[in-house]
Amino acid sequence: MQNDIVKTLATHRKSSRLFRTETPPIKDIIYALETARQAPSGSNMQPTSFIFIDNSNVKAKVRLASEKGEKRFYDGLVEDRKRWYMEKELSWHKPNLEEAPFLIAVVADSSKPNFFASAWVSVAFILLALEEKNLSTVTYTPSNPSLVAEALGLPKIQQVITILPIGYDADPKLKEPRKPLKEIIKYNDFDTPFIE
Ligand SMILES: Cc1cc2nc3c(=O)[nH]c(=O)nc-3n(C[C@H](O)[C@H](O)[C@H](O)COP(=O)(O)O)c2cc1C
Repeated sequence: MQNDIVKTLATHRKSSRLFRTETPPIKDIIYALETARQAPSGSNMQPTSFIFIDNSNVKAKVRLASEKGEKRFYDGLVEDRKRWYMEKELSWHKPNLEEAPFLIAVVADSSKPNFFASAWVSVAFILLALEEKNLSTVTYTPSNPSLVAEALGLPKIQQVITILPIGYDADPKLKEPRKPLKEIIKYNDFDTPFIE
């Protein structure tokens, strides 16, 4: 096995909010979900399910519910925060939820211990597996997940964790910079850097 494959995948991946129209092979999505299945979870309760969506009516419903929540969220923002989102080119519009060839709605059984963290660990596995297949996504976290849960007709106990629009990258936006290692690794206590 190549030595630094996980680090290479983690380093290369970036979020994509714009996708080519070309449809990826379904087997690559299954590959990513098989990888997610191997993720650890709290008490091995495996609370996470993945709704694979390729139906345009379902995508449209997800978009509508998402945008309804986002509109409320953006309308409630103070001016400073609004400007910050605008500078990041983020808005309440979520066209990629309809334009991406596929969506995966990651949902989790909220009655299980550590369901939220467990679901996110599986999302991390998905991100790396997609990168390996040259596919891109963004971990969209709806401002009002209940509206999306309702649109998907989920049982009350199931919580929407994130929606992943998936396709081939067409987003000119570059990967965001990361903090240097020496800033984030501490040695024995919080104040002592591990690397000088
Ligand atoms: C928990 C979490 C929630 C996020 N929610 C959103 C979101 O709702 N909308 C969005 O466009 N990006 C979202 N992102 C993507 C981040 O903005 C993105 O990962 C970050 O800016 C770093 O950029 P990069 O992934 O290109 O390196 C989220 C990422 C994480 C990990």
